[in-house]
Amino acid sequence: MSASAIVLAAGEGSRMKSALPKVAHEILGKPMIRWAIDALKDAGITRIVSVLGHGRDTVSPLVQTDTHIVIQAEQNGTADAVMVTKDACKDITGSLVVMYGDCPLMSAQTIKSLIDLRESHEAAISLLTVELENPTGYGRIVRDDTNNVARIVEQKDCTPDQALITECNAGFYCFDAQFLFEALEHVKSNNAQGEFYLTDVIQIAREQNRDVRALIAEDSNECLGVNNRVQLAQATKLMQKRINEAHMMAGVTMMDPETTWIEADVTIANDVTLLPSTYLMGTTSIETGSIIGPNTRLTDTTVGKSARIDETVAVKSQIDDEVTCGPRAYLREGTHLCEGAKAGTHVEIKKSTIGPHSKVPHLSYIGDTTMGARVNVGAGSITCNYDGEHKHPTTIGDDVFVGSDTMMVAPVSLGDKSVIAAGSVIVEDVPAKALGIARGRQVNKPGYRA
Ligand code: UD1
Ligand code: CA
Repeated sequence: MSASAIVLAAGEGSRMKSALPKVAHEILGKPMIRWAIDALKDAGITRIVSVLGHGRDTVSPLVQTDTHIVIQAEQNGTADAVMVTKDACKDITGSLVVMYGDCPLMSAQTIKSLIDLRESHEAAISLLTVELENPTGYGRIVRDDTNNVARIVEQKDCTPDQALITECNAGFYCFDAQFLFEALEHVKSNNAQGEFYLTDVIQIAREQNRDVRALIAEDSNECLGVNNRVQLAQATKLMQKRINEAHMMAGVTMMDPETTWIEADVTIANDVTLLPSTYLMGTTSIETGSIIGPNTRLTDTTVGKSARIDETVAVKSQIDDEVTCGPRAYLREGTHLCEGAKAGTHVEIKKSTIGPHSKVPHLSYIGDTTMGARVNVGAGSITCNYDGEHKHPTTIGDDVFVGSDTMMVAPVSLGDKSVIAAGSVIVEDVPAKALGIARGRQVNKPGYRA
């Protein structure tokens, strides 16, 4: 397929009431405009022009790698927005798709169908229409006595009768490129908003006896245009369902898809189980056999095979095969739990490696630490890695036993097979196989209560 595309995203999106341009608002980790562009690319379209205006400094970085950016300095309407691409599109012939950057749910399949419809009839335009129970805000499709689309009337220009029409403009078109740029010359702004409407080219095509074909959307949800935060939430919910169903079809078990939120770039192997209230964000990936949740949020974190991650928050961490984690663990950036390791309850770990089969089971803080294999860290033990100005490292060898309530005052190192007595404040290195003990002696005073 040789179709090209224009994405309109110059508007401010004032109904969002936001400092962020509308199309930069995210739906499950991906800006709205990226959902639109990625759908076009999935449909096989490689040449894409983005029309930017409001907030272009924020939007440009989102689209500049794979689209050609054209600036619409003043937002005079959707027809004007297409018109500013005239130079950038001058060598485009054949199918030219135009879509709005605020329609994140449009599927590649629908895009392909729309292109096919125009090309198979050599029509001037094919457009997507949608039956909506509540058409408020959408342009209405006016059909003639032969049931062909005669024109589109915007909400604000509707007569009371037209306002009752429930067939709406989805804002998604495939044009014959040459026809489009000629027709745009004839568009006027004599309407309620004083804008140049792209939708007016439908009537222009009909006046020129050109063919206009309408495709009625099978799934009205795909046509949801996001103008405000209520619609943003609706689009997010629909996208959640779409993403979750794709993972379930690929072999992921979800006890409660409603409370499971998976962002666009997450990868999950089959036979992973996700328990309720699990959030998988960013570039998180999970290998087969792992059980995640409930109440877990993993961001940019990799999880190996057969891990058990319960009530855990992890950010930019690496969790290897057969690790157990939580409930109530907090793994901060740079945590690496090696194979078979354990981070237990009320445990916080930062920028540290917990070696294979080592355990930090209860109430600990481990920061800036390199820990070997088969270490056991007793309850309430803490690496004191910060002296108020600088962070310092702790090194723990293999097979070390750290008694409960040990303070390891960094920089400090505990040699292989060393043992630390409970309640110690360790300020000096402990040699391999030695016992380190650093605490006051107990004194019993007989008969004290008498
Ligand atoms: C538009 C359609 C309406 C359709 C609806 C579907 C027109 C005139 N109306 O209405 O028929 O039912 O979408 O969602 O096309 N934009 C620019 N430059 C401009 C104006 C708009 O780039 O000068 C961009 C906006 O950033 C936005 C898109 O075009 O991404 C659509 O604009 P918007 O104001 O949201 O149009 P609607 O009122 O939703
Ligand atoms: Ca819109």
